[in-house]
Amino acid sequence: MKDVAELSAKEAALELARLAREIAAHDRHYYQDDAPVISDADYDRLRQRNSAIEARFPDLVRGDSPSLRVGAAPAEKFGKVVHGVPMLSLDNIFSAAEVHEFCQRVRRFLGFAEDDTLSFTAEPKIDGLSASLRYENGLLVQGATRGDGSEGEDITANLRTIRDIPLQLQGDVPKLFEVRGEVYMTHQSFEALNRRQEEAGRDAFANPRNAAAGSVRQLDPKITAARSLHFFAYAWGAASELPAQSQWQMLELFRNWGFVVNPLIRRCDSPEALIAFYEDIAHQRASLPYDIDGVVYKVDRLDLQERLGFVSRSPRWAVAHKFPAEQAETVLEDIAIFVGRTGVLTPVAQLKPVTVGGVVVRNATLHNEDYIAEKDIRVGDTVVVQRAGDVIPQIVRVVPEHRPRHTHVYHMPELCPACGSHAVRETDERTGKKEAARRCTGGLICPAQAVERLKHFVGREAFDIEGLGEKAIEAFFADGMLKEPADIFALKARFSEGPQAIATREGWGAKSAANLFAAIERRRKIALERLINALGIRHVGETTARLLARSFHTAPAFFAAMQEADAARSLEGISGIGPIVGEAICDFFAEPHNLAALHRLLAEIEVLPAAEPRAAVQSAVYGKTVVFTGTLEKMTRAEAKARAQSLGAKVAGSVSKKTDLVVVGPGAGSKRAEAEKLGVAIVDEEGWLRLIGDSEK
Ligand code: IVH
Repeated sequence: MKDVAELSAKEAALELARLAREIAAHDRHYYQDDAPVISDADYDRLRQRNSAIEARFPDLVRGDSPSLRVGAAPAEKFGKVVHGVPMLSLDNIFSAAEVHEFCQRVRRFLGFAEDDTLSFTAEPKIDGLSASLRYENGLLVQGATRGDGSEGEDITANLRTIRDIPLQLQGDVPKLFEVRGEVYMTHQSFEALNRRQEEAGRDAFANPRNAAAGSVRQLDPKITAARSLHFFAYAWGAASELPAQSQWQMLELFRNWGFVVNPLIRRCDSPEALIAFYEDIAHQRASLPYDIDGVVYKVDRLDLQERLGFVSRSPRWAVAHKFPAEQAETVLEDIAIFVGRTGVLTPVAQLKPVTVGGVVVRNATLHNEDYIAEKDIRVGDTVVVQRAGDVIPQIVRVVPEHRPRHTHVYHMPELCPACGSHAVRETDERTGKKEAARRCTGGLICPAQAVERLKHFVGREAFDIEGLGEKAIEAFFADGMLKEPADIFALKARFSEGPQAIATREGWGAKSAANLFAAIERRRKIALERLINALGIRHVGETTARLLARSFHTAPAFFAAMQEADAARSLEGISGIGPIVGEAICDFFAEPHNLAALHRLLAEIEVLPAAEPRAAVQSAVYGKTVVFTGTLEKMTRAEAKARAQSLGAKVAGSVSKKTDLVVVGPGAGSKRAEAEKLGVAIVDEEGWLRLIGDSEK
């Protein structure tokens, strides 16, 4: 073999290509098949030669170079990656009955008859963190975390160090393909890592999932490389073409391309088979080398998946059947009251610290006074605490045998602990029943509500202002520097100098104050959906905020529509916004104080219009109000409605002047007549399918 010093650039390039292929093949033999074909020493020699050539010809380092496996240089901070296809989550179910319901729901939606076969894949639900891997012409070019589902972090250098992730795919692959799956750590690696952490005097990780998440988000990829992570492929995102017709075939392809696919995955044709799979996996759970928290069922055929589509952030075609939550006993030492941003008083259990499923639990929500009364929870009681996945810990029940003498039935305070205003349970007008929640009536004078609103405003999903944490908000509020959102943008002008300068406060310095001002300046431009979420309207979270932003597109359009007399109507047609949420939005904008605070805020910021989903904008029915009537023959009413909404149309129940289009099937009656009277356009089902470009179905 030629000495590296004597190689020409051309020879070097050829040899690097050969080494990349050869080393990748040995990696597969060793890590995936557990069947190495050369000695460790020979393997190391190949890698050393590769590194030596790369050191001499740094320009020739390949995208699939084996040296990238050990980790590139540390990053300052992760870049952002916008997911072209969002990374969704799954709805959870917990019982066999719900498995039957899920299958029934899918069948009904698709209009399947009893004897039509409906197949599913049944897959262990790996308890790690999901990642998206982008391959261009078969080469790994980018890897990202899930983040909030729409936007994640660029962790390419770290993912490259994971041996289960091919740097170069094998065989025929689409030009562009994003493979998605779970990064996880085995129990064995987790225990070894924690031993090393303890020896080094560092905190141990609570569980393998946290350890995997911490490892993959290391700024120094060398640390990730040393942590021995694994990856199972089970889904995909953007793709230039879909080379398969079913989830099952897709998993087969993943395997051929060089991924590791969980070998326990099965195909099932009935709810009974799914339940049998669940029970089988539950039995194997304790002996598996990695954590799982349930199983996932997915409709196998991809054409059916497409027809089923999504509701909000989860697919209709898949569901997670979770294992029962883990439980532990501890003592309830006290009950504290937390006042939220909408004034709700929430009782919170202060527990003697206890470990549940690997995590130390100190607090648990008690929801409201009915919950406490129903379970007869008293201070001093021994209680069973439960934790399921990422859900907030719950108190399941009291252990009556352990109740000490002289305990008292718990009574909620009738005055707000923060402002002393009356805290009352309102009567729900619709049902005539008392609401479960007790609310502070202090409204704008209640400091606890104001502080919580401000915390929400700067939160990660809202304005996301770095350096303005909960402690800082509380302190600035207490000193009267910050009363409402608009004040945040005046902090620099008012408090960069003078006796109250932020830099002179305890815990602050010139640098951190300057960083805070800079972080605030960066957020003067804000996406509409973040602004809507930040307002803290009751029942309006991230998902609804995104729906509103996409429907109204710009801030002026949204705010103008909400101040019109028929604001409620313009919310009605938006898929995912029901009457209760609609009413809460209207209430918010009917309150003059809110409008005044909003105007002061808008004077400080620039709101960026919402990005529209490309497919939707191109659709002929985008923004149109559609009414379906009569019997549809090619699809169920639910499917037709969901499809229309996914293309950006609003679906209404009755025909009015605002209706753009009425789709009629056999048996259409009064709605058709009404449309004719008002001169609204009418099409039949065929015409509708042609309009939306689905006519080949
Ligand atoms: S499919 C659109 N399959 O569970 C469907 N997810 O609650 C996307 N997970 O974020 C997910 N094993 O992190 C799918 N076999 C599997 C999975 C799985 C684990 C995780 C994943 C996802 C979460 C959803």
